[in-house]
Amino acid sequence: MDDYKVHRTFLKDTLRKSIDFRQSAQHRGTPPPPLEKPTPDDALRITLPEKKSWQPDIPKTDVVETIASRKSRRNFNTNSLSIQELSFLLWATQGLRDPHGNTPQYRNVPSAGARHSFETYLFIHRVEMIPQGLYRYLPLTHELVLLYEEHQTLKTEISSAVLGQKFVANSAVTFVWATVPERMEWRYLEAAHRVILLDAGHVCQNLYLACENIGAGTCAIAAYDQEEMDNLLGINGESEFTVYLAPVGKY
Ligand SMILES: Cc1cc2nc3c(=O)[nH]c(=O)nc-3n(C[C@H](O)[C@H](O)[C@H](O)COP(=O)(O)O)c2cc1C
Repeated sequence: MDDYKVHRTFLKDTLRKSIDFRQSAQHRGTPPPPLEKPTPDDALRITLPEKKSWQPDIPKTDVVETIASRKSRRNFNTNSLSIQELSFLLWATQGLRDPHGNTPQYRNVPSAGARHSFETYLFIHRVEMIPQGLYRYLPLTHELVLLYEEHQTLKTEISSAVLGQKFVANSAVTFVWATVPERMEWRYLEAAHRVILLDAGHVCQNLYLACENIGAGTCAIAAYDQEEMDNLLGINGESEFTVYLAPVGKY
């Protein structure tokens, strides 16, 4: 068989059938990993505006029109996003369905077994009221945490990490999704990895649609150097690593 065909196993159900799920961490009684990475007490946090304060920034548009207008957009102008718009995009991609309730495992995107393995990192270049830099989204409290402020070479480093796709660094904000695979493996063992990637598609699709709703555009990016991107995010590439990203900007 051609070598690449061997890797189709990953997409097939054969793998799941070979797994003894009684060996899973969940089945053995190990507590689940945290829903969100811990944040140092002294980190700078930014509270994002709640849904009730989004008007008039977030128009209520027709879902048929929104789906019909979706396309990958790579030419961004220099306009900024408002903090309400960024709050909306984060809500759409990883926000809790019921932010004041007791079901943090349910979000505005679906996830296999509601395991939600992603952390969302943001390279913020042009969002009103938010200093430029790298941030991580905290879905449980709908906040951002600052990881580091923008430095002079950051855009060059981002361009290099996305294999020279220059439009990415011209974005107002770039979303980067990293997986913490243990959250999914805790239940699904070797069957975790396929559904992690299926989950990622839902997240990015919601970003596409939410962008269309605010006159912004995005483009899914799977062509990147994972090691370089992980280094920029400050993650170790093993227990957490980049799986997908998407620059966002007005056009
Ligand atoms: C999984 C995935 C990976 C992609 N990676 C890239 C990429 O690295 N660079 C890029 O310019 N576009 C990328 N795209 C965008 C596709 O090129 C685009 O969706 C396709 O050409 C269809 O155009 P449309 O999105 O406007 O319908 C990717 C899309 C998907 C779904």
